[in-house]
Amino acid sequence: MNTRFLRNQIAKLLAFLLILTGAAACAQDAVGASVSFDATNKMFRLDGGSVTYAFGINNRGELQFAYWGERLAASDTLPEPRGIGFSDEINDAPQEFPGWGGGTLDEPALKATFPDGNRDLVLHYVSHTISGNSLGVTLRDISRDIFVNLKYTMDPATGILARSATIENKTNTKVLLEQVAAASWNLAAGTDYSMRYLAGRWGGEFQLESEKIEPGEIVLESRRGSTGHQSSPWFAIERGAATETDGKVWFGALAWSGSWRITVEQDPLRQVRITGGFNPFDFGYQLAPGESLETPVFYAGFTTTGFGEASRLMHRYELANILPQAPKPRLRPVLYNSWEATTFDVDEKGQELLAEKASSIGVERFVMDDGWFGQRKNDHAGLGDWYVNPQKFPHGLGSLIDKVHSLGMDFGLWVEPEMVNPDSDLYRKHPDWVINMTGRPRTEDRNQLVLNLARPEVRSYVFEVLDRLLSENKISFLKWDLNRVWSEPGWPEVAPEEQKRLYVSYIRNYYSILQELRAKHPKLEIESCAGGGGRVDLGVLHFADEVWTSDNTDPFDRLLIQDGFTYAYTPGVMMAWVTDSPNWYNQRATSLAYRFLSSMQGSLGIGANLNNWTAEDFATAKQMISAYKSIEEVVQHGALYRLVTPRDGSNISATESVAPDKASAVAFVFLHSQQMRYPVPSIFLLGLDRNAIYSVRPIFGHLSGDAPQTASGAFWMGHGIDADLKGDYDAAAFIFERVSK
Ligand code: DGJ
Repeated sequence: MNTRFLRNQIAKLLAFLLILTGAAACAQDAVGASVSFDATNKMFRLDGGSVTYAFGINNRGELQFAYWGERLAASDTLPEPRGIGFSDEINDAPQEFPGWGGGTLDEPALKATFPDGNRDLVLHYVSHTISGNSLGVTLRDISRDIFVNLKYTMDPATGILARSATIENKTNTKVLLEQVAAASWNLAAGTDYSMRYLAGRWGGEFQLESEKIEPGEIVLESRRGSTGHQSSPWFAIERGAATETDGKVWFGALAWSGSWRITVEQDPLRQVRITGGFNPFDFGYQLAPGESLETPVFYAGFTTTGFGEASRLMHRYELANILPQAPKPRLRPVLYNSWEATTFDVDEKGQELLAEKASSIGVERFVMDDGWFGQRKNDHAGLGDWYVNPQKFPHGLGSLIDKVHSLGMDFGLWVEPEMVNPDSDLYRKHPDWVINMTGRPRTEDRNQLVLNLARPEVRSYVFEVLDRLLSENKISFLKWDLNRVWSEPGWPEVAPEEQKRLYVSYIRNYYSILQELRAKHPKLEIESCAGGGGRVDLGVLHFADEVWTSDNTDPFDRLLIQDGFTYAYTPGVMMAWVTDSPNWYNQRATSLAYRFLSSMQGSLGIGANLNNWTAEDFATAKQMISAYKSIEEVVQHGALYRLVTPRDGSNISATESVAPDKASAVAFVFLHSQQMRYPVPSIFLLGLDRNAIYSVRPIFGHLSGDAPQTASGAFWMGHGIDADLKGDYDAAAFIFERVSK
């Protein structure tokens, strides 16, 4: 054996060992989370799911973004960041949390004014701590004792990173904060980014829009004091052309239910940055010496497999980390809500009659909506007076609640606690309790004004009223509504420079009431409603088990609204009612089965006037609700695949939900308007186990005559299904069950 042969053999062995250890390192990379700091290149690195996020301390002492994308090998080292400076940008380093000052010309995360007129704020690294999956980094202004504590928490399962900041004033003077973001997110420089976002209006929420990211800034925001129907605090950015199933997508959602803003800018160096937090419009938060302000949390993630996976990661994260019952939220009970049936015209007898009918079809929760309190006959009076109307309910609520319980359902109640009608005892007693500006008109909307929840006495009143209602009655569920946005957002009782605290203190008090009510009444569940989907965000979803998606209950429009909704939010919180036909909102007529199938894409509710139903309607409803109960877990907690989008004038749409263990799936197919009797194109399922055998059976409708009753996952995904649909507004749904592996 010569030495060259020996050397070759040793080299081969070493290479083999390297491959082995490399493979082991990669395998280990793909699971769990890790947070580290590399002192040699001054780099922080957070790994989780399939994602790596990294930033470092640059030569100026700023925190500078380094990488956000596919998970890197544990052995990979990122180069030490160097601040950049070009002629048209004095300081263009993509900072993690830029203060406005020191030559920063792009969107700052923090802007402040000191009493001496100084408005220059330059934040440099001071220290950091790592604890489990969390990293804290402290920054300080270069000369003044303004500290910023950045917090990062990496989710091991999804790679979604939660970021927030706390601003601390350790100077001995007041400091006015004029712009405070939760985080700045940077992307590698490029000109081929586009973004998707959700816009809309009352009755038309969650419409998916898209825009190319060009030089300049795109602003998504609410200036209304609440999340708003017009825009949802969520973004998704693709590089190149991503699809539902493919391509790089960065996505994020801000957890704030007040005025918010997310900006997406491309700077002159083609760097793309997303900044989000409190809306700086009309913002001004005075920090006294020793005081601090905590921002909302901004959550964001990344995937290489398109918008579908981006949504599924969000859904998983929300179910496991955000919702009040996370990580195991209870399935949403099938509910009945009286609003569309009775509007304000509620009374004991009428509600009992509806409850009997609701229980006969399998409803699990009966919710009485608006009209039960004070002098509430219509929307002109009563808000603020949360006593039970004695003419409508001579026995209080107790008798109705007992009846509902005896029918095997739990009881829920509508409230709108932040509001007051000028025609109410509360307003007559406390006209100063509303948001207003001294000497200026108080603009009414739906004949109501907004109570200033930031005031301690108002907060106490609202909490006590609700606490009493819940303590005196067996109420399992509150539908908490909000039917107008802010105007004249003044707070005359505090000093002028303190008045804008309203934007923060109101929302914090709103959250704290929800939290305290839940703590005191642990079985209570809450729905966030704001004249439909006007308060849906990851902030309120910490306290609300579900949301009212839209006042538009037309099942065809709902396909679009629900499609958009699921880009950001899990179908497990998306309430969808079956209501009457023609629909109140647009007079469109659809079959009961179509209405059911549209609503079964989310958490099912019934909102129809059951007094007008035929025996046949009751039979259909009973069968549909029973079918829904067999799929609700998959729909609410499974993996959602948007197979065919209803947007872009498409004539069909389809979704599929797959159980986490892939043992079952359900597919919904909708035909909007058939012409020339063209057959419905094949729909290709996704997410099944390709080697397993699945049986198929309809919930409603059928597959074309020659379809097999069992076939492999590969068949259903490759060959697809052919739904036999005809005419206008036809729909079908199919359950797939794994019969063998
Ligand atoms: C608006 C909600 O979205 C409706 O469902 C209903 O609760 C009404 N408010 C009641 O006023």
